[in-house]
Amino acid sequence: MDEAARQIYAARRRRFGAQLGEGIALLPGAKLVRRVNDVDHVFRQQSDLLYLTGFAHPDAVAVLFAEKLVLFVQPRDRDAETWTGRRPGIEGAVAEYGADEAYGIAELPARLGPLLESAPSLFHRLGEDDALDRLVIDALRGIRRRERLGARAPRTLCDPYEIVHDMRLIKLPEELAAMRRAQVITRDAHLAAARSAHPGAFEYELEAELAHVFRRFGGAGPAYPSIVATGQNATILHYTENTSELCDGEVVLIDAGVEYEGYAADVTRTYPVGGTFRGAARDVYASVLAAQHAALAAVRPGSSLDEVHDVAVRSLSAALVELGILAGGLDEILGESLYRRYYMHRTGHFLGLDVHDVGSRFVGKEPRALLPGMVITVEPGLYMRSDEEGCPEAFRGIGVRIEDDVLVTEDGCELLSHEVPKELSDVEAWMRA
Ligand code: GLY
Ligand code: MN
Ligand code: MN
Repeated sequence: MDEAARQIYAARRRRFGAQLGEGIALLPGAKLVRRVNDVDHVFRQQSDLLYLTGFAHPDAVAVLFAEKLVLFVQPRDRDAETWTGRRPGIEGAVAEYGADEAYGIAELPARLGPLLESAPSLFHRLGEDDALDRLVIDALRGIRRRERLGARAPRTLCDPYEIVHDMRLIKLPEELAAMRRAQVITRDAHLAAARSAHPGAFEYELEAELAHVFRRFGGAGPAYPSIVATGQNATILHYTENTSELCDGEVVLIDAGVEYEGYAADVTRTYPVGGTFRGAARDVYASVLAAQHAALAAVRPGSSLDEVHDVAVRSLSAALVELGILAGGLDEILGESLYRRYYMHRTGHFLGLDVHDVGSRFVGKEPRALLPGMVITVEPGLYMRSDEEGCPEAFRGIGVRIEDDVLVTEDGCELLSHEVPKELSDVEAWMRA
């Protein structure tokens, strides 16, 4: 990590630390997870620890005070590093990552008690990491045993994630730079996949095009398993088998985005196999597109994810009547949530280091107001299962979703994924070009 990056993380920690008072915060990192026998999944650091330290190695715990970072990390180990890769170790945690103190992770049980003893409040989220919970309980018990001798355990238990998640909701300039780069890579990946959407191609071939571009331009890979769902597979919201053959006349839904410097893109387009929207799929697509335009127009400071969702639901419900898929009045369809048979997910979520990023939809019981600097997705869709008996035959087995990534600005919003076309003729032209 260079000096500029160290300064960026130090500034984030100062903002975090300013809310700790005299307290101490514990943030456990991710551990390696076994995939098969003696092979692990690719490591991905826990996003809050990453946000505050940039430290991206397994088995770390960050201990934060108002003005101090203590990192517990895997120490250097010649044999282990020969097998599984370089480690910054204790020295690197200080020199490279700007920790004020660093220790081997094996020292945490012995050092936790003295660290906790110095703080009136403990910021630790119980239930996230069982092993760390155990250490905390043992350390507190140890301190209390000595209370008659003057020792004093923290009196209050607070949630450190409340602080860091509020910070993560508003993207900083350096975060937006990474997110914009993720959009460029994702655009190129969608283009490569869309141009491979010929009758006779298989979904995995399109997935391979996505994966190639993601890695080719420096991404970590897909931010979530790429969904390439042709025909009726698109009515399964998180379909990831990607094994079917594309057939002429159907549409293929691609929900895929790169992870770049930790940040996710999350973009869905639904492409006509062979390059031309036809028949019922064309009508469904036009309806979802209209709903998406309406929902995007509701993204501005002071609005909310709920408000954006309600706009999309109203537009989709009206379209379901117009297409002859639902019968009845709009009030009844909305009041009894009849649209849910064909639109069963929310219209958007926060986006950032996590694809479904942190930040509750609510503040207390009220919908959270959107603020400049927040990034959300807007992703309405319609999904008519092939076994949906109430649905006219022509629409069965069609799934369409259109998903953009949107930055809330002072006076509205900016479409980060605007370079991936979605108007019918623009999509067709893009696939042909
Ligand atoms: N790719 C998951 C989602 O759109 O939320
Ligand atoms: Mn999404
Ligand atoms: Mn998505």
